[in-house]
Amino acid sequence: MPGRSREVQLAVQPDGLPKPEHFAVVEAPMPVPGDGEVLVRNRFFHVSPALRTLIGGSVKGAPFPRLRPGDTLYGKAIAEVMSAPPDAGVQPGDLVQPWLGWREYAAVPAGQWSPLDDALPDPAAHLGQAAIAYTALTRDARLRPGDTVFVSGGAGGIGSLAGQIARALGAGRVIGSTGSPDKAKRLVTELGYDAAVLRRTPALGTTDAHPETNAHDETNPLAATDARPVTDALAATDTQHEPDALAATDTQHEPDALAATDTQHEPDALAATDAHAGTDALAATDTHRGTGALAGADAHREAVVPGGTDPFVDQLAKAAPDGIDVLVDNVGGEQLQAAIAVARPGARFAIVGTLAGQLSPDLAGATAPVEIDTFQLIVKGIEIRGFGSSAEDAAGPEWTERFGGWLRSGEITFPHVRVAGIENAPRALHEMIGGRHLGTVIVEL
Ligand SMILES: NC(=O)c1ccc[n+]([C@@H]2O[C@H](COP(=O)([O-])OP(=O)(O)OC[C@H]3O[C@@H](n4cnc5c(N)ncnc54)[C@H](OP(=O)(O)O)[C@@H]3O)[C@@H](O)[C@H]2O)c1
Repeated sequence: MPGRSREVQLAVQPDGLPKPEHFAVVEAPMPVPGDGEVLVRNRFFHVSPALRTLIGGSVKGAPFPRLRPGDTLYGKAIAEVMSAPPDAGVQPGDLVQPWLGWREYAAVPAGQWSPLDDALPDPAAHLGQAAIAYTALTRDARLRPGDTVFVSGGAGGIGSLAGQIARALGAGRVIGSTGSPDKAKRLVTELGYDAAVLRRTPALGTTDAHPETNAHDETNPLAATDARPVTDALAATDTQHEPDALAATDTQHEPDALAATDTQHEPDALAATDAHAGTDALAATDTHRGTGALAGADAHREAVVPGGTDPFVDQLAKAAPDGIDVLVDNVGGEQLQAAIAVARPGARFAIVGTLAGQLSPDLAGATAPVEIDTFQLIVKGIEIRGFGSSAEDAAGPEWTERFGGWLRSGEITFPHVRVAGIENAPRALHEMIGGRHLGTVIVEL
């Protein structure tokens, strides 16, 4: 065991969005476990947008303390036990889940870690936040077979799973939003979305809020020419992909017909056009690209790349001509406004995240104001519920068993990107905020 442990600290308070220069990777003495503490070596940790909020001041009432210069960042991790008290219930070599990511080693007090079993085929999938997507869809928005679902932030950690889970639960049409034409295509071709719509980003020429965002998409020749949402030619013709009315209750749900028959999956043509994939100095590994079971549906899907210059509400109205029944909202802002505008009567909205406010360079990251037309809520009888993590806990064992089954059968995949090395973690955070990756961003140690 080394004598020292590296960790990532907030070096200076950023003015605007955090960048790598606002962090320092420092060496600290090896933590010495106190009474009842478990010494762990982190194997993976999650790079979460919530860090922007913690750096920006935290949210009143939220259970997570803010970060100040000199503090070590924290977040969900998967760790290997190095030593444990005799009565801890874990042995050296066991995997546990503490909230002390962003460091190589940690001494974790009792009650601040949970043991991991092999319910999921890949331990890193425990960082996937799929329980949030599942709970939001089943408990908060009460998805019904045949519903039209809109997932804002549809390519993110939660969203990339929410779209697939909605499909697996029998949604009739699934629409996702994202920040680049490349990711919009991938939503349709890899994750089974029927259509994708584009938020405003500098790559689309509508704002310069994120000058570095999605720079690799500027090469897309279609980006400026077609204002239609990414639509799925398959949606109208694929009789194998009908909503599965049983899926919501069947814990032994069989693999999707498309997944089971995908033996001729072609290499992902997009990979060649993504200047980022595989060439980044970080050597980030996108473990999802081109490997998803749903990708098999895509050999014959023809995504139409949008320009994204249409107002967001118009894109969404085109993508959901009959309106939406369910919103899983990771974003807020104009995406929530648009969802209200196109909602069908009786629509159910689960508000999970606040990316529009959280990752705004003009706000501190701890507020997410949005003006909504409450007349529309009344007239349409729209139900809006804020998602809380206690609801996620309620899904608990039911969810983990189901997620493991889906992953093993290949019905859904865990889209994520692995960035190797703690020294690259600040840059991984910067890239996640900039929308460079699809799915959950994980640092692997
Ligand atoms: N309620 C709860 O208990 C709970 C629990 C966990 C997380 N959350 C929240 O849920 C939300 C989603 O979490 P996540 O981990 O899945 O994050 P995420 O979507 O993976 O976040 C990164 C993505 O945000 C998008 N983005 C960047 N700037 C944006 C902007 N200005 N406006 C809109 N989108 C922007 C980019 O995707 P595109 O380029 O594809 O748009 C980027 O890839 C976050 O707000 C998070 O804090 C809530």
